[in-house]
Amino acid sequence: MFKLPHIPRERLPGLLAAMPKAELHIHIEGSLEPEMIFALAARNGVALPYASVEELRRAYAFTDLQSFLDIYYAGASVLLKEQDFYDMARAYLARAASENVVHAEIFFDPQTHTARGVAMATVINGLHRACVDARAEFGISASLILSFLRHLSEEDAFATLEQALPLRDKFMGVGLDSSELGNPPEKFARVFARCRELGLHRVAHAGEEGPPAYVWGALDMLHAERIDHGVQAIHDAALVRRLARERIPLTVCPLSNLKLCVFDSLGAHNLKQLLDADLAVTVNSDDPAYFGGYINANFTQLFAAQPALTARDAYQLAFNSFEASFAAQADKRVWEHRLKECFQRYFEGD
Ligand code: ADE
Ligand code: ZN
Repeated sequence: MFKLPHIPRERLPGLLAAMPKAELHIHIEGSLEPEMIFALAARNGVALPYASVEELRRAYAFTDLQSFLDIYYAGASVLLKEQDFYDMARAYLARAASENVVHAEIFFDPQTHTARGVAMATVINGLHRACVDARAEFGISASLILSFLRHLSEEDAFATLEQALPLRDKFMGVGLDSSELGNPPEKFARVFARCRELGLHRVAHAGEEGPPAYVWGALDMLHAERIDHGVQAIHDAALVRRLARERIPLTVCPLSNLKLCVFDSLGAHNLKQLLDADLAVTVNSDDPAYFGGYINANFTQLFAAQPALTARDAYQLAFNSFEASFAAQADKRVWEHRLKECFQRYFEGD
């Protein structure tokens, strides 16, 4: 890394917001703001069990992952038409670009929609069109990752993959999300093996609430190239060494971990420990509409809570986000150059 001069802490929030970055862990259904949920419900004639935006927001008091997922799936029930998926993704991409996200790899949960009778093509075409348009309109590059819901069966995941394959050129990878405890990675070993044969990238949520064994399982049974969350890996020294040695990125989501009670406070979050153990850690927003902040809020609130985090860490986290992405090497070099320029400009006092 180039030599970084000292930067006063009060300048860190500005730097964190200004630096170019990639977002690698965002569930597009988790970007649905309460206002948009109500607007789409009205547009589509869907009845909601909440009287107002405020009442819905008040329900966002989660005690664990499952308590969040119940509300998150209910919120997604307003999405019916291709334009709904387009509008949701466009709103996220506009917001991300305004926070200097130059590249986003976006999860979507098709089973949440196909189970309600929405066609796979409706979901994927709407999201994909928003990604294409956002490049022209906001200058952000974006690609899609189809996530299997792990509380459902592997058979259901196979059927979902089958439905999505005619649209294979519109998503570049698969993921695994939803209720982690009791649904270990090995449940999906065969469908992930098929995805690997098909040349799809593979990522998996593991070690969010679940034990280090689930992270081992994601690596060994699913051949995951990135681990989403992975914060529980800290409890297994051999696993930490492996993640470091193999440069397996962790897409960490501080505000999510706080809101879902994985850590008691941001001050207690272990991101700095993971970074200091030489892991390829990145910062992400997970479900920003539900957890009280987009990517820059994740950076600034975590850095504010942890005085040990420095400008060097900020640079490393942004650099890691490019390295950990599935983007072309040439794009990574361009973004990393822009990152370096941003830090240099910043230190020159612009
Ligand atoms: N789906 C949306 N957000 C999730 C999370 N944090 N963990 C697992 N599944 C999810
Ligand atoms: Zn997630």
